[in-house]
Amino acid sequence: MYTVKCLNPIADKGLDLFTEDFKVIDDLDAADAVLVRSASMHELEVPESLLAVARAGAGVNNIPLDEYAKKGIVAFNTPGANANGVKELVVAGLLLASRDIIGGYNWVKENASEENLAKLVEKQKKQYAGNELKGKSIGVIGLGAIGVLVANICNRLGMKVYGYDPYVSVRSAWSLSRMVKHIASIDELFETCDYITIHVPYMDSTKEMINKEAIDKMKDGVTILNFARGELVENQAVIEGLESGKVKHYVTDFPSAEIAGVDKVITIPHLGASTEESEENCAEMAVDQLMNYLENGNIVNS
Ligand code: MLT
Repeated sequence: MYTVKCLNPIADKGLDLFTEDFKVIDDLDAADAVLVRSASMHELEVPESLLAVARAGAGVNNIPLDEYAKKGIVAFNTPGANANGVKELVVAGLLLASRDIIGGYNWVKENASEENLAKLVEKQKKQYAGNELKGKSIGVIGLGAIGVLVANICNRLGMKVYGYDPYVSVRSAWSLSRMVKHIASIDELFETCDYITIHVPYMDSTKEMINKEAIDKMKDGVTILNFARGELVENQAVIEGLESGKVKHYVTDFPSAEIAGVDKVITIPHLGASTEESEENCAEMAVDQLMNYLENGNIVNS
């Protein structure tokens, strides 16, 4: 019998996969394995006997990987399992930035009780006019599971898609090129694109990769989208860019006191993977990984 502690709520569809040889328990100290979503494990004391951690999500920055590796604790993640959920929210982010849906929605709400609302609408709508995505250029930084889906849908929306990923080989670049029109250097991408969307993991090497120097290279009026991790972007540099007009909008799934409420920042509370489908897919994959490892010693996606 193996014991598993969930540090966050994990979808039943995944937990139901556990065979009778597994038991979900409340006591971390008695756990052979941990299932986690976004809770940070950096300050958490885990038992010496812990064998494995499975993250129901892609990013692993909430897990102290080096420390666990030394202790022999295997860590898994679920790349791709929530990619569609994130992709769809990126499309929403693009539309929220290009069409003034939020301004228009707020205006209608405020004026809902006006008797001549229909007439007022005709006067007002000019103020909320926007731009179309078709024909605009978008730079996708990071061509992993999410980045490729984003590139594909942007291509279908008629956008010119530029891709950048230092780990994508020339051969993969060629097969991706049906949707990614240009595999660019990061500077070319900065200089060329109307929209820039980031899909890389947060690591020492990617910390604040969107900083003042990067923003200075971007096109005037660029919109930056961040559905990856807040730490990838230097908030102060974005705020300065917004103030000067260099940056038109910053759309981010990672609000912080510094950035939330700033004009032209569109932010929501880390909802990229918060769909029933993504949560279930991640839970199923994570549970499968734990059972595979604990019962058979197989390591998938560690
Ligand atoms: C991820 O890294 O895949 C997301 O942060 C998942 C989540 O929202 O839990």
